[in-house]
Amino acid sequence: MKETIEIAKQVLKNNRKSGYTLPTNNKLYPAQWNWDSAFIALGYSYFNMDYAIKELETLLSGQWEDGMVPHILFHGNDETYFPNHKTWECGNKIPSSGITQPPIIATIVKKIIDKNKLDQVQMERMQIIIKKLKKYLDWFYNYRDTSKIGLVSIIHPWESGLDNSPIWDGPLNKVKIDGNLKYERRDLNVSKSENRPLKKDYDAYITLLNKLKKHKYNPNKIISESMFNVIDIGFNSILIRATKDLVEVAKKFNLDFSDLKKKTMMSEESLIKFYKDAEQSFFSYDFKNHNLIKVDAISNYFILFANIGNEDVNNKIINKLKKYNSQKKYFFTTVNPIDKTFEETRYWRGPVWINSNWIIHQGLLDKDKDFAKLTKNKTLDLLEKSKFYEYYNYNTGESLGANNFSWSAALYLDLKFS
Ligand code: GLC
Repeated sequence: MKETIEIAKQVLKNNRKSGYTLPTNNKLYPAQWNWDSAFIALGYSYFNMDYAIKELETLLSGQWEDGMVPHILFHGNDETYFPNHKTWECGNKIPSSGITQPPIIATIVKKIIDKNKLDQVQMERMQIIIKKLKKYLDWFYNYRDTSKIGLVSIIHPWESGLDNSPIWDGPLNKVKIDGNLKYERRDLNVSKSENRPLKKDYDAYITLLNKLKKHKYNPNKIISESMFNVIDIGFNSILIRATKDLVEVAKKFNLDFSDLKKKTMMSEESLIKFYKDAEQSFFSYDFKNHNLIKVDAISNYFILFANIGNEDVNNKIINKLKKYNSQKKYFFTTVNPIDKTFEETRYWRGPVWINSNWIIHQGLLDKDKDFAKLTKNKTLDLLEKSKFYEYYNYNTGESLGANNFSWSAALYLDLKFS
């Protein structure tokens, strides 16, 4: 549909500030977000390569000295968002948050380079980006893989990008909430409370944030002292894929990142231990409290995106995924509707999100072409019907959350043109 393509491009252009793009224009997220920017860059690559590269450069200009790329960069002095730069009180060159997000950026950079004929200047810019990404991925293995098994921990639910997924319920219940918390949520001014995380979630998010700040974001301290430490399947799947993709794309620039390749071999060996044959599923692990988190969430199926070389397990996961939302007009719900934690319209606890469909689609591409195509077509149908919102109801296709949502538009372009 030509018209939808034009609307998608317009959404991105309208959300663009100087050198970066907001996740939406409805004031819910008035800053630059890490994985949003990566998806957005992929969208731009279909009609303005300079915007695409610039988006990535701006994000990486906020990289910390130790290699971490923050989950939010606060370019302006905007204080309408909570928690803004005044709460976080950190950043390198650009005020930022003190945590990260899934490093999908490496996979997206590889995609952009593979699909396009970049000129010499663009390739030089990409080379700088790639070197910064090496430092970013090294940071994960240096600071977040404390057991040296090739798998990393996240120390805040916001790092996962799936803020209030029920995967975090158990670990968050163990967090001792600060007795004298004082904060004012701003998200509820622009979004319906029945679609957003609960107060008890925010109490835990802010308690964790305060603790990070107390440790001055020291990367060793914040992990050893953390009240929240989860080895998440979704996050690690994205990291493994990112690492493999970065090693591959680096070859085009005569850069040898084979030290990273060794990491991914170890990661795969470790990750397979989290596969449970009884449920035919991978489960995230609460490292802090030592238990498996048995929630049937879509991010467990991101394992397909990691491209682990175990065909038998991959097939079992795909078969299970085929039953996950069977007979439904739209998929994939972020949580299986039969899981007791499922909530049809609450944020990451049920609604369909386009980036999660995209990740699954990418994971299916070389494993089950028909199912990959079905996933793509259903996602395109949903977007053509409901246009570019933050998330959607799987029964009705009704749009939820913020309108003019950048990554929904960007990934529409990728699904449409790929
Ligand atoms: C929310 C989402 C996160 C996203 C951000 C900006 O925090 O959970 O994944 O990056 O909003 O869109």
